Amino acid sequence: MSVLLTNIGTLVTNDPGHGVGALGVLHDAALVFDGDAVAWVGAAAQAPDADTRHDMGGAAVLPGFVESHAHLVFAGDRAEEFGARMAGKPYAAGGIRTTIAATRDATDDQLRATVRRLLDESLRSGSTTVEIKSGYGQSVPSELRSVRIAAEFTDEVTLLAAHVPPPEYAGRTDDYVAMVCSEMVDVCAPHAKWIDVFCEQGAFDRDQADAVLTAGAAAGLIPRVHGNQLHQGPGVQVAVAHNAASVDHVAHVSQADIDALAASSTVATVLPAADFCTRNTYPDARALIDAGVTVALGADCNPGTSYTTSIPFCIALAVRDLHMTPEEAVWAATAGGARALRRDDIGALAPGKRADAIVLDAPSYLHLAYRPGVPLVRQVWRGGAVATRWEA
Ligand code: NIG
Ligand code: FE
Repeated sequence: MSVLLTNIGTLVTNDPGHGVGALGVLHDAALVFDGDAVAWVGAAAQAPDADTRHDMGGAAVLPGFVESHAHLVFAGDRAEEFGARMAGKPYAAGGIRTTIAATRDATDDQLRATVRRLLDESLRSGSTTVEIKSGYGQSVPSELRSVRIAAEFTDEVTLLAAHVPPPEYAGRTDDYVAMVCSEMVDVCAPHAKWIDVFCEQGAFDRDQADAVLTAGAAAGLIPRVHGNQLHQGPGVQVAVAHNAASVDHVAHVSQADIDALAASSTVATVLPAADFCTRNTYPDARALIDAGVTVALGADCNPGTSYTTSIPFCIALAVRDLHMTPEEAVWAATAGGARALRRDDIGALAPGKRADAIVLDAPSYLHLAYRPGVPLVRQVWRGGAVATRWEA
């Protein structure tokens, strides 16, 4: 079954060989999907025939957003913590334990319902690939349950084995890490692709993060790191040393960290909604990009620091507050997310790529930053078909 999308006002291909600039922009363009893949991209006037034809009426079409950082397996919320924070109480890693308690108490179906609700919400705002982390169990059975439930919905499952030491290991973080590195990784690895650790004051230090990533890699998981979110620390250096796919947050980095990232293949993922909701310092995305670091952009949906699934909101923040150009922000949310997930089949609209695209209620991708807070995603194509609900 082939599908023609024609009369596209602005098409972002992310194929610099094809259109203008890094986004590979074409105007008056068309796209053909064949099954779940892109079959043809070019000028509307030259488009081949297809089984069905859809007139985009001059709208902008982009690759679906690639959300490379989401914590969706949890129960409860932390609205009161957010309220207290807005009244001046600083965010600290320990708040995660509130969600650990609620998540451990929840049923499987309650957790599934939350994941589904947040994926449907993500899809409506244009995310067609979503990574999902565990991390609110922090015991073997509870982390196993989280990665299993995540795997029902996505191939991009991350075992966030070391998020914060749970209460039963209070004052015994090394013992917790030893348990993670033996039993937890062994039991959970078959259900995950990635291993993640929160390397931060109040969570895990350099040696502990190093141990978790080493054990995860030995079990076949690929490292990624939560690093340099709240303070300068060793997160970036640990990530680079482990050839992590991505180090995420990077709000507090040194010049040495930027240099190390620039010399590595590790992506720096900025999560400005978390900084917005915690009144944290924003990452210096300009310094990262200007140094040659590959930057991805995610929403970091979680009940503590960033209870949003909206990549358009993050694009607006990235442009307004991180001083990324609209082109850099759109690239970071699409091709950048794909790099952070080491995927070359998504994040671009070129022949052979997955037919994941979004149609805006706007003539240009610029409107994502120019019209903040407006639900501009009019239609989502996922695997070559219009999607209104998340399908695994
Ligand atoms: O990405 N930094 C650690 N993890 C989450 C926050 C988790 C929470 O507060 O529940 C984050 O910001
Ligand atoms: Fe996170």
